[in-house]
Amino acid sequence: MDIPDLFKNSLKKYSPYEPGEQPDEDGWILLNTNENPYPPVPEIVEDIKDAIGNGEVLRKYPDSLALEVRKAVLNQLLRDKDTLTNRNSIFIGNGSDEIFDIIFKVFINPGDEIVVFYPTYGFYKVLANLYDAKINEIKLNDDFTVPESAFNVKGKLMFINSPNNPNGKSFQNSTILKLCEHFSGIVVVDEAYADFSDFTCLSLLKTINNLIVCRTFSKTFSVASMRIGYALADSIIIKEMNRVKLPYNTSYLAQITALLCIKYRRKIFEQNKEIISERKRLTEELNKYNGISVVPSDANFIFIKFDDKSTTLKFLWDLKDMKILVRHFSQPGLYNYIRLTIGTEEQNNKFLAAFNGIANKYL
Ligand SMILES: Cc1ncc(COP(=O)(O)O)c(C=O)c1O
Repeated sequence: MDIPDLFKNSLKKYSPYEPGEQPDEDGWILLNTNENPYPPVPEIVEDIKDAIGNGEVLRKYPDSLALEVRKAVLNQLLRDKDTLTNRNSIFIGNGSDEIFDIIFKVFINPGDEIVVFYPTYGFYKVLANLYDAKINEIKLNDDFTVPESAFNVKGKLMFINSPNNPNGKSFQNSTILKLCEHFSGIVVVDEAYADFSDFTCLSLLKTINNLIVCRTFSKTFSVASMRIGYALADSIIIKEMNRVKLPYNTSYLAQITALLCIKYRRKIFEQNKEIISERKRLTEELNKYNGISVVPSDANFIFIKFDDKSTTLKFLWDLKDMKILVRHFSQPGLYNYIRLTIGTEEQNNKFLAAFNGIANKYL
């Protein structure tokens, strides 16, 4: 039997998402995957150990609807965000990536059209290929703002990442509102990095019913490995999302972790202020060099533009020789950029020293 003939058609043109390189050996400085450089606050680690306790909790299935997490997100984490408050308006997922998958499951028939911007987080297109959706990719303006053409497109789903990976810029609420008003389908706003900025479009949910806002504990709260995130939307949408999800999509430990992140959120937000001040320092330091520029970022990464493409690659290779990994995208319009995740002060100092040495050779 020819097994590949049995695979579903959409797999023929499908390429999975490629995560950033993660070398196994010690000694590398990994500034390529947009993880939070700090571990979770120690209280979270301790309380997770206690939560496992005698192991009895591991025997049972977790709460399928993660009700405690839903309540804590709405009543505590988002209390001051002026957004939906009803427990039927929030979905808890296995990270935002699972939430995007569920959104495709709810809305997409083969051949439906989805709208994505370019550049942006690559996973939306990966899912579109998997679900046999047509992709309408709209290039952002050179300053990464939304072009006028985006306001008269049709489709089932439109994905906006705010702040946008890889350039770090948030979209204005007025832009998101206008997109929601003009689009024929559902606008999904991925706010994975929004807690590193003052921007969020959560308040729009109170008046707009074709909007889904997705958020995650992976970045702000340093618990990417636990896999938990949430989405807010009109209860009609959330109901369908809950109907199609796997019965136990978030584990007991993931739910406990989310609750602990919410409990210790003030301490974590305090810790993240370091990332925000380091982002400012790195941006200022790098902008002192001729031949490169960094635009202000609202995320935990910055996008460094080199005037010259070959210089970009020389920096990339030399940094790698020095065991520092940053992210480069070999894609149209992006060859001249390096995306740098903000590290700890110590990591950033090492990066700046290495960068300076390379700049003396090439800039
Ligand atoms: C823009 C964006 N959205 C979502 C994710 C994935 O988040 P999660 O860990 O919640 O699945 C990432 C991960 O890098 C991301 O860059």
